Formats: sequence, structure tokens, C-alpha cells
Amino acid sequence: MPHIAIISASIRIGRNSHRVALYFKNYLESGNLATAEILDLMEYKFPLFDERLQFQKDPSTGMLDFAEKIKSSDAVLIVTPEYNGGYPASLKNAIDFLYVEWYHKPVAVATVSDGVFGGTQVITALQFTLWKMKALMVPAMFPVPKVKDAFNENGDPTDKMATDKRALIFVNELLFCIEANSKMAE
Ligand SMILES: Cc1cc2nc3c(=O)[nH]c(=O)nc-3n(C[C@H](O)[C@H](O)[C@H](O)COP(=O)(O)O)c2cc1C
Repeated sequence: MPHIAIISASIRIGRNSHRVALYFKNYLESGNLATAEILDLMEYKFPLFDERLQFQKDPSTGMLDFAEKIKSSDAVLIVTPEYNGGYPASLKNAIDFLYVEWYHKPVAVATVSDGVFGGTQVITALQFTLWKMKALMVPAMFPVPKVKDAFNENGDPTDKMATDKRALIFVNELLFCIEANSKMAE
């Protein structure tokens, strides 16, 4: 069974996009589709980028842990909010610390907002950055509009049937990329 690292990107006090990260962990594991671990940037509390991990003289255990978990995962699912048409600085910060860890890593992006567009303006910028780092971008979207109406604090969806149906299409693309990637590595 594949192992998926879910990055919960928001470190905002009172954040809501974390609900979507909780949902995906539960969705993947309860459906026996994958094992999953949430890499919570709020818990890691990374300092502002000053140099890439590979060039740091005395890297923190948190940074080493994060890098190892990205590297050893079969894929990464990023849950990110939209801030002023882009993705949050916390996420760019975490991405830039790493390099080889992103190489040929399947990465899917779920976007979140409290408005009606579901954070979709984030996608092109985030995809371009990860593409530059030679990640394999999964060609699927999972926009979450009106996040507080769509999920409760535990990540339970208000309309479970409709949400799971949408998640299946998104996750199937991710699982396809994981399988294709593993076949290329054979
Ligand atoms: C600094 C900031 C900028 C935002 N900009 C946008 C935006 O451009 N488009 C949008 O749909 N929502 C925007 N929002 C609303 C967020 O989508 C909403 O707060 C969402 O819950 C953010 O995720 P979070 O709660 O996990 O931080 C913004 C929120 C913040 C705090």
C-alpha cells in the first residue's frame, strides 16, 4: 500500500484548511487506499528560509524529520489555502528548504478558500515552483470553496457522499501517478 505525506500548509491562528488535511487522511486510510501522515507546518514551526537544508551546518531535527518524511513517501498531497491570489509563505518556505526530496515525487494539490472559487488561483504558481524542482505534478484538482460549510473541525464533510465522490476522482489520479512512477523505477 502506498504511503502519502499530506502537507497542511496553513499556520494561521484559527485556520480552517487543516480540516481538509484531516479529511484526506481519514479518506485514504478508511478506504484502505493508502497510509497517510499529516506533516503539519504549524507544528514544525520552521524559521524563515536562510539556506537549503543540504547546505545547513546544523539542521534542526524538525527539518531533518520533514525532509525524511517527504523523501520516503510515495507521494505528497498538499492542502493549501489561497492568500491574496497565491499560496502562503509558510508553504514556499518549506518547499525551498528541500530540493532532492522533490525529485520525481508525485505531488497533488488541494486548494481551499472561504469564498466560492475554492482557492484555485493558487494552482498555477504552486505547480510551476514544484515543476521547477522536477516533481511530478498530478493532473487533478480538488478545490474546496466555503471550507467552514464543507467540513467540520474534525474534517468530517457536510455532504459526505458528494465529497467522497469528488475525492475519489482526485485520489485516483494520484494513485495512478504513484503506480506509474514505481513502474518507471523498476
Ligand atoms: C491573508 C489572507 C488572504 C486571503 N486571500 C484570499 C484570496 O485571495 N482568495 C480567497 O478566495 N480567499 C482568501 N482568503 C480567505 C481564505 O481563503 C480563508 O481564510 C481560508 O480559510 C484560509 O485558510 P486557513 O483558514 O487555513 O488559513 C484570504 C485569507 C487571508 C488570511
